[in-house]
Amino acid sequence: MSELGRVGILISGRGSNMVSLVEGMRAGEIRAEPAVVISNEPAAAGLQKAAEFGVPTEVISHKKIKPRKEHERHVIEALHKHRADLVCLAGYMRLLSPLMVQEFRNRIFNIHPSLLPAFPGLDVQQKALDYGVKFSGCTVHIVDEECDHGPIIRQAAVPILEGDTADSLAARILEQEHRIYKEAVALYFEGRLRVEGRVVHIDEARPE
Ligand code: GRF
Repeated sequence: MSELGRVGILISGRGSNMVSLVEGMRAGEIRAEPAVVISNEPAAAGLQKAAEFGVPTEVISHKKIKPRKEHERHVIEALHKHRADLVCLAGYMRLLSPLMVQEFRNRIFNIHPSLLPAFPGLDVQQKALDYGVKFSGCTVHIVDEECDHGPIIRQAAVPILEGDTADSLAARILEQEHRIYKEAVALYFEGRLRVEGRVVHIDEARPE
């Protein structure tokens, strides 16, 4: 059997997308193994969850290592130390600098709770409600030098219902996030993603 790929997951909080990815790897839906979970927040609840799965964790606090570049250098070092092939941002609340993007070009994925390019940034479920769109959703994309901007791998649309609050909408979007993030990472390790400019093509599955 060929060697499994290795995924480094960056979190800042609850870590439900991280858990879903780890479960996907452990269940064999994704042909990879979790290499490390790194948090910039020492109190992130996801750290405990990762430890329960037996996944190595690292805390690299941006409050302790203040200069942005210096902090990122530590993150890059940890990702290499744990031999990560792919980096998955999963609720990681730090903007990446070009240094990190170049180090892992086309190998950093992010999950965002809107249908990009609509509503990049923060509090996007509330923004979708305030704007009055009838559908929102989520996007898995490759990270480039701009925030919430790189080539789109997978999206799922979620209808906005009468009486929705930011929380109720976020909960329905989150279910779809867990599904499409696993799909995108699985496709990556099946070698089926082909990036052309800002378009990601998905190749047919090869027979086993
Ligand atoms: C998710 O909604 C994700 O799309 C956004 O931050 C949230 C993180 O949730 N980037 P979790 O930590 O994965 O539970």
